Amino acid sequence: MAQARILAFAGSLRKDSCNKRLVKVAAQGAEEAGAHVTFIDLKDYPLPVFDQDIEDAEGLPQAAKNLKALFKSHDGLLIASPEYNSSISGALKNAIDWVSRPEKDEPPLSAFTGKVATLLAASPGALGGLRGLVHVRSILGNINVIVLPDQLALPKALEAFNSDGTLKDAKSTERAKNLGRGLATFLQKLKA
Ligand code: FNR
Repeated sequence: MAQARILAFAGSLRKDSCNKRLVKVAAQGAEEAGAHVTFIDLKDYPLPVFDQDIEDAEGLPQAAKNLKALFKSHDGLLIASPEYNSSISGALKNAIDWVSRPEKDEPPLSAFTGKVATLLAASPGALGGLRGLVHVRSILGNINVIVLPDQLALPKALEAFNSDGTLKDAKSTERAKNLGRGLATFLQKLKA
């Protein structure tokens, strides 16, 4: 059976991002369940704010092409999204917008259709970014991504991690890892 390939990233560009830390914990669970995980930092794919004039004049920026190629070469997405003003971060929405654009001879939404995603969020607040995930789920669902029902919104996230990036709380660690395992197992069943 072919190994499931999962692309893991956070919707935050911040160096010390809690969401980057959280998605790495979930990624460990996916790896333990036998998936191949590629972790990327969206900061390594700097993109202008989506502007159709740029697209018309120059096509997709190289970073968008690279990101799209990564999406296409993976079966699943593990995404930890910060909540900005009760919604998705600009960085994540902008990346989705660029990656969603077809180039010559490409069918629409080829980087998203049929992918399976699992969502997480981390926030210093009490709700853990739960409200933002409603929007992330809706956006991805509308571009043909199967978003699995289980998710984790981690509250009080600024105090939740050790300096090595592990979570202090064993229960939260298990919940995050379980999400990664669940995504890996789902993808492996699809591939079987
Ligand atoms: C926030 N933050 C925030 N938190 C939250 O729980 N609900 C919210 O609506 C918002 N809104 C918001 C807007 C903007 C513009 C910023 C910059 C921040 C706080 C946010 O959760 C916090 O900065 C996190 O640490 C961001 O995630 P990373 O960067 O740690 O992954």
